[in-house]
Amino acid sequence: ASLELGPYSHFMQKEIHEQPKALSDTIEPLLEAGFVPELFGANAKELLSKVDGVLILACGTSYYAGSVARYWLESIASVPCQVEIASEYRYRDAVANPNWLVVTLSQSGETLDTMEALKYAKSLGHDKTLSICNVRESAIPRSSEMVFYTRAGAEIGVASTKAFTTQLLALFALTATLAKIKGRLSDTQEQSYLDALRHLPGSVQHALNLEPQIKIWADRFAPKEHALFLGRGVHYPIALEGALKLKEISYIHAEAYPAGELKHGPLALVDDNMPVVVIAPNDVLLEKVKSNMQEVRARGGELFVFADLDSHFSESEGVHVIRTPRHAGVLSPVVHAVPVQILAYHAALQRGTDVDKPRNLAKSVTVE
Ligand code: G6P
Repeated sequence: ASLELGPYSHFMQKEIHEQPKALSDTIEPLLEAGFVPELFGANAKELLSKVDGVLILACGTSYYAGSVARYWLESIASVPCQVEIASEYRYRDAVANPNWLVVTLSQSGETLDTMEALKYAKSLGHDKTLSICNVRESAIPRSSEMVFYTRAGAEIGVASTKAFTTQLLALFALTATLAKIKGRLSDTQEQSYLDALRHLPGSVQHALNLEPQIKIWADRFAPKEHALFLGRGVHYPIALEGALKLKEISYIHAEAYPAGELKHGPLALVDDNMPVVVIAPNDVLLEKVKSNMQEVRARGGELFVFADLDSHFSESEGVHVIRTPRHAGVLSPVVHAVPVQILAYHAALQRGTDVDKPRNLAKSVTVE
């Protein structure tokens, strides 16, 4: 294993650091072809032209990738989107709309609940199905009409990292492609999205370079038993993913909330023992997030803020700030996924847990 790990201590750490490459490999076909339906298979042009909504089905980290995509699909492509946990959908009396595209997200392509949710969707009359998957020829893509393979390479750490960020890219490509099919993507906009994609691996590399600073934060987290993650809008699912990573591998209880919902419950938990991580890039909701942060500070909560250069945050008593790369624009959730992965990784190291194989969890869950 040490040969495979190279300079890294764990597969998770290696896979976190492989993200610039995983992303550029996944971006390659997009940069060559632009946002064309053929990215999703030879029959995609025909199938996608009839789509007027998207239903995303997934589990775990893949579900959070889908939750980011919902914001993109509705704002960029004006396509309505629902995201549902596969194990819930498969047992619910769902009402199918055959004009909706069913997208399953799965790193392994073998997760039983996601596979069964897909079968159920098909039994309800859904015949436009797309699998976004990292493992070629696995069960879920084999059962789907269209496929997009992420090119993350083998992911061994149980906690998903590079599969997540490459899934986000695939979902962004789907969003831009649907927008284009619907005549909602101008040539200039397409070029600017392609430029943003081209810059993405570099921004992710910048985020990776924050590791020494994030490690200092992780050392302060390690003794805690609880943590809260806040985000708003498209960064709310990144807060959810950050909380999931932390609980999966460090066993610290972590919860994520959309920052505006803080006052409806979790604020009661905040005291000087509850670290609060905030994903606060400079987006339209920044001012709102800032006022949510004041609510935390007023209760003695210690804030750990990931903010980009443009958001003009400064450190103060009880407020720690790490500057994330700027100008990621619409792809900002991809960049902000990275620091929360690193935070979880170093908190787990401090606590001495089995980072690559956390207790009670499996890489691919092929049983119910
Ligand atoms: C397991 C893994 C998670 C993963 C989830 C879904 O719980 O531990 O890391 O996100 O399954 O897996 P999938 O392969 O379908 O993306």
